[in-house]
This record gives sequence, structure tokens and C-alpha cells, in this order.
Amino acid sequence: MIRKGILLAGGAGTRLHPATLASSKQLLPVYDKPMIYYPLSTLMLAGIQDILVISTPEDLPQFRRLLGNGQRFGVRFAYAEQPRPEGIAQAFLIGREWIAGQACALALGDNLVFADHLSSMLRTAAARSFGATVFAYRVRDPERYGVVSFDDSGRAVEIVEKPALPHSNWAVTGLYFYDHRVSEFAARIRPSARGELEITDLNRLYLEDGSLHVERLGRGCAWLDAGTPDSLLQAANFVQTIQARQGMLVGCPEEVAFRMGFIDREALLREAQALGKTELGRILTELAEGIHD
Ligand code: G1P
Repeated sequence: MIRKGILLAGGAGTRLHPATLASSKQLLPVYDKPMIYYPLSTLMLAGIQDILVISTPEDLPQFRRLLGNGQRFGVRFAYAEQPRPEGIAQAFLIGREWIAGQACALALGDNLVFADHLSSMLRTAAARSFGATVFAYRVRDPERYGVVSFDDSGRAVEIVEKPALPHSNWAVTGLYFYDHRVSEFAARIRPSARGELEITDLNRLYLEDGSLHVERLGRGCAWLDAGTPDSLLQAANFVQTIQARQGMLVGCPEEVAFRMGFIDREALLREAQALGKTELGRILTELAEGIHD
């Protein structure tokens, strides 16, 4: 069972300049919540309550201010710095002591996943005691991502970072589950041409080990990354549409904490009241009072 997870919120957010000149990208709002709330909710839905937040030395204080020790979400946050943008896989070296030889998940701070059956998919991934699980999503522009291709029987055969000529349309999303060998595998990776420890190289080690599970996210799923002005706006519009239409929350850690049994009704009500007269506060109050299921 994977009980630990890393939330990675590093990088300079250069594709969002000037919005990110004085603020971390992952703290920008996606509609009504800070971006980091969405991948945080995903980790929590997977049953993960021990979370290491990694960010730059400049931005880490803001994450501490926002998230605190985690008590109000029924989780425990630890914090660590990534001094330079030296790659996603570096998270497992920075977090090596904290991981302490256990299995660990990783969620990128700018990725948002929404799916009907998400929690059961996440629980299945978290329950795997051997190997790694990644999620693939069909996109129009695979060259922007890690790309996985499959053989005729649907088995993953190749995984390449930002290929100029992609062999498939399946992008690897920024949500990863790894077994207890993860820090050891990460230590074997060497920097890529762009000077980064690539998460794709870590995934390739698991692929070569024969223990990489690739779950394909189908039509009923939305995967959005909020790293450019267009994708940030799309993500915000998506969240607004679902919340306004269905009255259901997307990426709300207070709600997930309550549904997962990490916090009780009284704690949820306190959190809802702390949000004052916001729409979010109203929906959470109704949830705490049992008005909605
Ligand atoms: C990173 C990874 C890539 C993955 C993507 C998901 O890309 O390197 O493999 O598909 O996140 O968001 P980057 O954000 O560094 O462009």
C-alpha cells in the first residue's frame, strides 16, 4: 500500500510570465482554488495522508503559509526545497530520507485529473506493492509530453520524453505511483540533454524492469495541465462548468478529507465557516450539514 506522496511545485513557470514573476505557478488560482489544491486532492483520494511538498527556496514559505501542517485536511505535510529546476525525478533524491525506503507517489503541482471512477483507479494504483503505475491520456499534441506507445496487445513498449516525432498520441500524465525501489532507481538516472533528471527516464527503468503499469484514461476523463495561459484558462473554465452545473466540487481537499474519513463533520464545518461567504464555503457547509450526499 502506498501511503506517501510528493507534491512537486518547483520551476520558474516561465511559460506564464509575467503572472509568475512574483508568485509560484502552482499558487495561481484555477477558478476558485490555488492550483496545488487539485493534485493535492488527487493524492488524498488515493488514500495518501503523508505528503512532502517540494518547491523552490523562494516559494516554499508561501506553500507553508497556505497548507500549514495539514491538520485541517487530516493529512501531514513535510516540506523540502528544490534549489534549481533539475528535473522531476530529482524529487525522489531530495525526498530520499523522508521516503525512508517506502513506496511513494508523485503528483505534479500543475496537473488536474477529473474522472468518474478516479478514486477506484487511484486506490488500485496505491494498492500495488510492486512496480510503478502511470496514467496515459490521449492528446492532440503529444510532443509536449512524455509519450508512451503500445504494441498490438496493448502492452506499453516505449516511453519517450517530448519526442519530435511521437509514436503515439498517449501522453503520460503528471501522476505517478512507485514501489519502495523508487529512490534507488532515481539515483541511477543521469541528466538529460536539457540538464534534468527526467521522470520519463525513471519510468523507462520500470518499463525495462517489466513492472510498469500504464493505465489508459479514456473518454470519461479530463486531464489538464495549467502551465500556459491557455491551459490555465481552460482548466479554470472546466472547474467552473462542472461546479456551476452539478454543484459538485472539483479539487477541494476539505471535501476529499471528509469523504475519505480524514476529518469529521465538525472539522469540515469549521473549515467551511473559515471560508466565510464564498460559494465554496456554502457548498462545504451544506455537505457538513448533510444536505447533499
Ligand atoms: C513533465 C514531464 C512529462 C509529462 C508532463 C505532464 O513535462 O516531463 O513527461 O508528460 O510533465 O504534465 P514538463 O512539465 O516538464 O514539460
